[in-house]
Amino acid sequence: MKVLVTGGAGYIGSHTALCLLEEGHDVVVLDNLMNSNQESLRRVEELTGRKVDFREVDLLDAAGVDAVFAEGGFDAVIHFAGLKAVGESVEKPLWYYQNNVVGTLNLLHSMDAAGVRRLVFSSSATVYGASEEVPLIEKAPWTPRTRTAAPRNRSRTSSRMWVPQTRAGASRCCATSTRWEPTSPV
Ligand SMILES: NC(=O)c1ccc[n+]([C@@H]2O[C@H](COP(=O)([O-])OP(=O)(O)OC[C@H]3O[C@@H](n4cnc5c(N)ncnc54)[C@H](O)[C@@H]3O)[C@@H](O)[C@H]2O)c1
Repeated sequence: MKVLVTGGAGYIGSHTALCLLEEGHDVVVLDNLMNSNQESLRRVEELTGRKVDFREVDLLDAAGVDAVFAEGGFDAVIHFAGLKAVGESVEKPLWYYQNNVVGTLNLLHSMDAAGVRRLVFSSSATVYGASEEVPLIEKAPWTPRTRTAAPRNRSRTSSRMWVPQTRAGASRCCATSTRWEPTSPV
């Protein structure tokens, strides 16, 4: 498969890119390097002996995202690009909503236009708050308590709500949203 990994220069994204390459998939990384460095991708290339195609693009740049999809051939997208610091999100809520929600909407628009229907969305276990039931399971209730109400978490929670709606509205669209558990292999 040819997989677009957004946020692929970051912590989880670069490890995911490594696993995908090791499994024989082709990987294109989209990242604006806001919270990462291309060094991570250089190391992925060194470890795998394979090339990582990198596009320095901001998800807020809708035309730029469209241009990546115009290259064609993507079978799936794994979406990690986003801001994730709970404390910072309380200080800069509008910036977090802008980056995480608008960025994800731009991605979905571009995917829809390009006919790419498979999406794995990286949400967050913090949407559960301080659950007393462990281990957490997918169907555990979300909680609006305490830090879960932070914009960082709300931006991931709200995306969790409308990503499945998008899936329902788009024929042949397959979307998975993750918190703790590994997702189905792409
Ligand atoms: N780290 C964890 O333990 C963990 C656990 C569960 C879920 N998550 C979620 O997974 C995602 C990735 O987490 P991470 O720890 O790898 O974070 P990270 O900051 O290391 O990676 C995120 C990447 O996204 C990029 N990015 C941010 N905004 C962008 C934009 N507008 N356009 C393009 N690129 C953009 C950053 O430059 C960075 O490389 C986050 O959404 C986070 O909430 C993280």
